[in-house]
Amino acid sequence: MIRKMCEADLPAVLEMEKDLFPSSPWPEHEFLYEMHENPFSTLCVEEENGVIRGYIDWWITYEQAQIANIAVLRPAQKQGIAQKMIDLCVENCVREGCEILSLEVRINNDPAIRLYEKNGFITAARRKAYYEDGTDAWLMIKPLGGLEYDSNTACD
Ligand SMILES: CC(C)(COP(=O)(O)OP(=O)(O)OC[C@H]1O[C@@H](n2cnc3c(N)ncnc32)[C@H](O)[C@@H]1OP(=O)(O)O)[C@@H](O)C(=O)NCCC(=O)NCCS
Repeated sequence: MIRKMCEADLPAVLEMEKDLFPSSPWPEHEFLYEMHENPFSTLCVEEENGVIRGYIDWWITYEQAQIANIAVLRPAQKQGIAQKMIDLCVENCVREGCEILSLEVRINNDPAIRLYEKNGFITAARRKAYYEDGTDAWLMIKPLGGLEYDSNTACD
């Protein structure tokens, strides 16, 4: 089941974050901000039998959407959980009329890059020293189509 993240999920999510992003884990206040204050954010967890196995955070700012965070518990990886979370994110972004979904990924993060390529993301740019440890990022984007063009309301 994928559902909105709540404060009770924080210990599990913070543990995963530290394990999976050891050089730059999001601190607790970042998750709290995303949950309660950021009006553009949707932060969800994937839960099975009471175990939090993954989380995803995306932002929708008008026509543009961005995946800000996605991770899956190590022993639960390679079982399609990230795929389910991305499907949900894309569905939501399309419903909201977004034109583009983007994200940044470490250039050496092959599993994540494969995941995004499989989902139709293409590499748009290389961001130099994007991460605190100096690693570059790929900016990857996926076209979503946006709202259908309505010729009745268009201006010439
Ligand atoms: C990247 C990550 C989220 C993938 O999660 P996952 O649940 O294991 O991924 P899925 O099982 O849904 O895999 C979907 C597709 O992603 C790709 N993929 C996932 N893991 C992979 C791996 N280890 N090697 C190669 N491709 C991989 C494959 O294309 C896979 O499709 P397939 O099973 O048909 O081959 C997970 O490895 C993770 O949490 N990594 C650490 C955190 C991270 O790097 N997050 C991304 C930051 S940008």
